Amino acid sequence: MNLIITKDYEELSAKAYEIVKKILLEKPDATLGLATGSTPVGLYKLMAADCKKGEVSYKNVKSYNLDEYVGLGVGDEQSYVEFMRKNLFNHIDIDLKNTHLPDGMDADMQKACDRYNEMLANAEIDVQILGIGGNGHIAFNEPGTSFDSVTHIVNLTEKTIEDNARFFDSIDEVPTKAITMGIANIMAAKSIIILASGANKADAVFAAVKGKIDESCPASILRTHKNATFIADIEAASKL
Ligand code: PGA
Repeated sequence: MNLIITKDYEELSAKAYEIVKKILLEKPDATLGLATGSTPVGLYKLMAADCKKGEVSYKNVKSYNLDEYVGLGVGDEQSYVEFMRKNLFNHIDIDLKNTHLPDGMDADMQKACDRYNEMLANAEIDVQILGIGGNGHIAFNEPGTSFDSVTHIVNLTEKTIEDNARFFDSIDEVPTKAITMGIANIMAAKSIIILASGANKADAVFAAVKGKIDESCPASILRTHKNATFIADIEAASKL
């Protein structure tokens, strides 16, 4: 795994975009694996700005997102599909038909998981963007999730519900379940960029980069990927 430590969040976003832009210029019909959360927002702003300038086009790009809350979908402000539209899709020339997220609104959640796994099996993600949770989770794969897992339904941990409450009016509104790509789906990407910013990620970054590779820290598995780049700002990297 390559490790890049940056002086701040701005430089972290710029380094991530450097890698993404190279892929998009080499392969204009690339498939992107995208993530929600605060950390990739700086990267998404750079993608949008460059697209506006005409440097990069997303006309032939496809995307697959990591996860979605169960019970939220298009039209729900806190849903991940709306997050992606607001923070990226509405600002680039991607065809919404080529963007995919797990369906949190399906009455049969197992069917929704199976459908997403099938879609992923037929896609090849050129670069997967990831954040990391304060407890080392990737997507909604919490500590203890099998490294062999594929798309599944999870009960969110108290820590994750607390971390995500900032996006809702009150903690009671945070959904308690999500549909998430599994760790095996994530590891199938051709390349992975994992981003961590801020002191509240320092323990998770330490566990992911220097701890034992085991299921107590889901992000630790990324060290076994053949083309993963971990980009952490100085605060997130402060315990390394
Ligand atoms: P964040 O979330 O980018 O909002 O910190 C990361 C995550 O929980 O995966």
